[in-house]
Amino acid sequence: MDMADYTNALAPFTLPGKVALITGAAQGLGRTTAELFLEVGASVVIADLDGEAAKATAQELSAKGPTLGVAMDVADEKAVQVGFAAAAEKFGGVDVLVNNAAYRKKANTMDMPVSEWDIMHAVIGRGTFLCLREAVKQMRGRGGGSIVNISSACSHHPMIFPNMHYDSAKAGVDAITRLACVEFAPDKIRVNSVLPGGMNTPGPKTMKAAENAGGPVIAGPAMLPGRNLMGRVAEPIEMARAVLFLASDAASYITGVELLVDAGYTKG
Ligand SMILES: NC(=O)c1ccc[n+]([C@@H]2O[C@H](COP(=O)([O-])OP(=O)(O)OC[C@H]3O[C@@H](n4cnc5c(N)ncnc54)[C@H](O)[C@@H]3O)[C@@H](O)[C@H]2O)c1
Repeated sequence: MDMADYTNALAPFTLPGKVALITGAAQGLGRTTAELFLEVGASVVIADLDGEAAKATAQELSAKGPTLGVAMDVADEKAVQVGFAAAAEKFGGVDVLVNNAAYRKKANTMDMPVSEWDIMHAVIGRGTFLCLREAVKQMRGRGGGSIVNISSACSHHPMIFPNMHYDSAKAGVDAITRLACVEFAPDKIRVNSVLPGGMNTPGPKTMKAAENAGGPVIAGPAMLPGRNLMGRVAEPIEMARAVLFLASDAASYITGVELLVDAGYTKG
């Protein structure tokens, strides 16, 4: 096979002319995914609770391709509608949604304020639902699309403690994937989950800093060396490649999967 053949063979793994909206994309996995999507031909809407950071990220990445930064609290219905409307105005609508935004705060089960439970489920559960719904409206008018929900290996197996609010919210994300893949298959919309193991992103470091400052202690397998089969946490690009695969035509016959990208953590 010469180089031209490889280029052809890899074409389905790219997103030429596609429009992707990624939530929580001002840092971490969301930002790395935005960068990768731009490199393979997509236009990318970088949506984040931190609107200034979203706009700065969009500006920084604009050398790689068309970007738009929008302030969006995924838990807020109006903000989600406004963000998707901005995407439609700039790019005509979205073909790919990555539900990536997540709230992070450890809380012991027995001491957890109900407000902590509620905000976790509002951002992860309600946020995934609201963004999916706005994306489906636009995808229906574009002949289909692909939605990738970022869940967590902890929806299958506890990873860090204390984490009941987060793990249960992520299990809800998997349920959304299983249901939505059935509901929206007639619209040619595929819906899949990526379930990361531990990742080298700012989020866990912020939690660790909170622990060091006297907050709830984070303990658990993925945070300790050698507790997954590869003995290390993932770099965000290793996760972003799995997101790209599911978002792209390379996964044209895949819907409803929960793709564990966890270095075998859940099998060890
Ligand atoms: N990092 C890990 O070890 C790990 C492991 C398993 C799963 N995950 C999942 O991967 C995804 C990305 O994780 P990360 O570590 O890159 O995250 P991160 O905490 O580094 O970044 C999350 C981003 O989401 C944004 N955000 C928070 N609340 C929001 C809201 N209400 N609306 C919009 N944006 C909001 C933040 O501003 C931030 O930019 C998350 O869904 C997370 O749960 C991460």
